[in-house]
Amino acid sequence: MGAGVLRTRPPPGGDPFARLGGVLTCGSHSLEDLANEHATPLYVYDGDRILERLATLRDAFAADGADPGSPGLVVAYSVKANPGLAILKLLARAGAGADIVSGGELHRSLRAGVPAGLIVFAGVGKTRDEMRYGLRSGIRAFHVESAQELDVLGSVAGDLGQVAPIAVRVNPDVDSPTHAFTRTGHARAKFGVSPGRALEMYRFTAEHPFLRAVGVDVHIGSQIRDPVPFVNALDVVLEVAGKVRGDLGIDLEYVDLGGGFGISDGEADELDVRALARAITRRLHGTSLTLVIEPGRFLVGDAGVLVTRVLYVKRSGGKTFVVTDAGMTDLIRPSHYGGIHAVSLVREQDGGPVEAVDVVGPVCEQGDFLARDRHLALPHPGALLCVHQAGAYGFTMSSNYNSRLRPAELLVRGGRVKRVRRRESYSDLIRNEADE
Ligand code: LLP
Repeated sequence: MGAGVLRTRPPPGGDPFARLGGVLTCGSHSLEDLANEHATPLYVYDGDRILERLATLRDAFAADGADPGSPGLVVAYSVKANPGLAILKLLARAGAGADIVSGGELHRSLRAGVPAGLIVFAGVGKTRDEMRYGLRSGIRAFHVESAQELDVLGSVAGDLGQVAPIAVRVNPDVDSPTHAFTRTGHARAKFGVSPGRALEMYRFTAEHPFLRAVGVDVHIGSQIRDPVPFVNALDVVLEVAGKVRGDLGIDLEYVDLGGGFGISDGEADELDVRALARAITRRLHGTSLTLVIEPGRFLVGDAGVLVTRVLYVKRSGGKTFVVTDAGMTDLIRPSHYGGIHAVSLVREQDGGPVEAVDVVGPVCEQGDFLARDRHLALPHPGALLCVHQAGAYGFTMSSNYNSRLRPAELLVRGGRVKRVRRRESYSDLIRNEADE
């Protein structure tokens, strides 16, 4: 359906961008004031909401009596969702770890104060440099995705005279109902290895002087709202862990279930994390395995919005286009994944009669849109729109295509607004270039 424009259902725990006097707010601040002061396009994050989401996960997974702060659960925030230093720092202070996929994410995580012992390093293409960086930093583990990678990691560790802690990322071959680009748990995906291959890799590890098996890992995809595929994936990796114990006599320390916990887009409901946690903890009961989870979107997705100003309203070819100053360079999810983001007027009174519109950006691509065929109270030029659920995979996937400047980011926390990134300038655009 296309009518999910005006967000009707507040997310669980209350809406961090509630309306006051017809105007959307963050904390006690009107998004209109923030946009007027900091210009648009503008990302605004609610730090309190991020911490609330962390608490929701911890509560859910601790519901069967475990202490939320115990080594029984590690929440390793998936940095790729939103790698802003301020957000990383907020989560690090709250005791979160990090799931990283590059040397750059390691740099950010360490810089933000995430303890190295809570950092896990995934990805199919780690370079030797990245391996060295991870080893020297003392990260908790490398999540290894191929036999070749394991071999290289062993030799890099040997060169440094250090032992590399590893978990094999298993491809459980489960179907996960999500967009093809974010589905990673089926056999034909580039991620992980089959359970059989994983066992061979654990055997190789057991015999290697510079490798040590500490865990088993799986990640089946992103924005998954059904608990069943997670449980199916866990069953596969628990079987692998059982064989590692039975065949090799190695007791793994942890099982990492990955991330991918789906959130609401204003239309579909979010994943029931309590139901998921019940099923997971039941299966882990009686084992000594620590559970690691790697949520990204669940923590930051609905804690962020993109505020954009309407430039023009254009009627053409029987359609109505609302042209905004934000586009695919600021938020690529609608055009790249068919991602749905609720769009609403920052000031309710700015809307005219409801019409089906395309909300499009200024980028010279027909695929540049934020929403299509949405029923929106038609805004006038100059009105502000709020694009919801933009805290994850928003700014971090932004680009300078069309030589557009990337927007500023604000973090609102405990009533205080902090600009955590300034808007780019024209000189930023050419800073790394030489002209002859
Ligand atoms: N762990 C691993 C190994 C991952 O690859 C990912 C995401 C996560 C955890 C976190 O997933 P989350 O909890 O955020 O769903 N750009 C896409 C999503 C790509 C996800 C990539 N991997 C989007 O905008 O939908």
